[in-house]
Amino acid sequence: MTTKKIINIAIDGPGGAGKSTISKAIAKKLDILYVDTGALYRTVGLFVKSKGVDPKDAEGVTAILPEISLEVKYENGAQAVYLNGVNHGDAIRTPEMSMYASNVSAIPSVRAFLLETQKQIARTNSVIMDGRDIGTVILPNADVKIFLTASPECRAMRRYKELCERGQSVKYEDVLKEMNERDAQDSSRAIAPAKPAEDAIFLDNSELNFEESVNAIIDIIENKCGGTR
Ligand code: DC
Repeated sequence: MTTKKIINIAIDGPGGAGKSTISKAIAKKLDILYVDTGALYRTVGLFVKSKGVDPKDAEGVTAILPEISLEVKYENGAQAVYLNGVNHGDAIRTPEMSMYASNVSAIPSVRAFLLETQKQIARTNSVIMDGRDIGTVILPNADVKIFLTASPECRAMRRYKELCERGQSVKYEDVLKEMNERDAQDSSRAIAPAKPAEDAIFLDNSELNFEESVNAIIDIIENKCGGTR
């Protein structure tokens, strides 16, 4: 049996660009792992909320990090994050947790706390990993780096539909406002801001549907890694 080369694919970009659904489909096609790094920040946010700590209080958040044990597991091909032994499922997916995650993610100790978990998964597995700093900080030597984005209105509409499908009652205007706020915060923070790596390929999928987006990214991967699969 030949040993397959490990390939690392980094997908960064703002919320609502479809990074996670697109990455999941690509992971399935290429038979590699999909790593959703936002889920890690969301889980830290959930813990911070459960402790009644202000997610912008860097000292307060840093003080409770030692109480957190995070484990990433793959169950039937899907990523599950365990917080002190418990998988909180969709509880990390609310708009409130999006803001908690964005707030705690600007704290350097939180980023340092999650760094090795992310690097370790990519060291031992072929992955498509999505986030904000994957191409710049987590996997600077990734085989393929893509910065995926779309217009704010387009991204907000996708997120709005996704939340409605999950049964959450939200208004489009509120989703757009929250998304703009979060993007501004994530891309302007002092540490690991959400920005394309210098060697990333920029893809705006405002005019592409899901399948076209998947195909566009597969083409980029094949161009870069052709012959390795
Ligand atoms: O991808 P997401 O919407 O689930 O991410 C939630 C928040 O977590 C996002 O607003 C910023 C933060 N995040 C980050 O700072 N770095 C990452 N690699 C992934 C997410």
